[in-house]
Amino acid sequence: MNSQDKLIEEKKQVLSKLRLHSISLTERMANAFLNVPREEFVLGNYRDRAYIDTPLPILANQTISAIHMVMIYISPSCTDPQIGDKVLEIGAGSGYNAAMFAEMVAPEGTDNPGHVYALEIIPELVEFAKKNIERTDYTDRVTILQSDGGLGYEKESPYDIISVAAASKTIPPPLLEQLSVRGKFVIPVGKRFYQELVLITKEPDNSFSEKNLGGVAFVPLTGKYG
Ligand SMILES: C[S@@+](CC[C@H](N)C(=O)[O-])C[C@H]1O[C@@H](n2cnc3c(N)ncnc32)[C@H](O)[C@@H]1O
Repeated sequence: MNSQDKLIEEKKQVLSKLRLHSISLTERMANAFLNVPREEFVLGNYRDRAYIDTPLPILANQTISAIHMVMIYISPSCTDPQIGDKVLEIGAGSGYNAAMFAEMVAPEGTDNPGHVYALEIIPELVEFAKKNIERTDYTDRVTILQSDGGLGYEKESPYDIISVAAASKTIPPPLLEQLSVRGKFVIPVGKRFYQELVLITKEPDNSFSEKNLGGVAFVPLTGKYG
C-alpha cells in the first residue's frame, strides 16, 4: 500500500470510529473530513499520526484539536453549518478547523459560497495557519487574521456561526453582539482543565438561548477575556 492509500484507509477508519462514538455524522461532514488533508496541518514529525483521533502539538505550545472535537463543532447538533454561512473562528491554530468549516459552508462548485474568518492571537501560529491554508488551496474561502479573538471581528459581522476553540472563563460580550439572528455560537466555558461546551443561539426576538453540550478540555483563551 503506498502512503496516499494508507492515509485514505486511516481516514476511513477514523470515520467508522466516530460513528461508533455516536457522533451524528452526516454525509457532508464525512466529505469535509475526507477532503481536508489533516496531515498538511500538523508538524512534519507528526504527519504519520495525523489520523489518530487526539490533539497533537503544533507551535507555541498549542494544539490542533482532536478529530472528534472538530466533528462535534461542525455537526447538526452544534453549529449546523449551511452552504453560504459566514463563520468567525477564534483560535485558528493550524488552520485545520477553519478548512473544515470552509468545506461545510463553501464546498467546491457551489454558487453561493460562504466564508471563514479565522482569528489567531499568536503571530507564529498566524503564519503557520496561513501557510497551511495556502498550501491546501483554501485561501479563497478562509481568511486568517492576527487579533484577540475575544473582541471578535466587527468589520465582517454579523456571523451565522461563531466558533471558539479555546477555553474562556466567561462569554465575551463582543461575540454575542456579532452573532446574527438565528446564529450559532459555540464556546468552551470554565476553568483551566475542565470546561462545559456551551452552544448559544440568537433567537428571532434577539434573545439568547443556551445549551450545555458536555464536558471538554481546551487550552485557555488569552487576551482581554482570558
Ligand atoms: C486548541 S487550539 C485551536 C486549534 C485550531 N482550531 C486548529 O484547527 O488547529 C487554540 C488556539 O487558540 C488560540 N488563542 C488563544 N487565545 C486566543 C485569542 N484571544 N484570540 C485568538 N486566538 C486565541 C491559541 O493560540 C491556539 O492556537
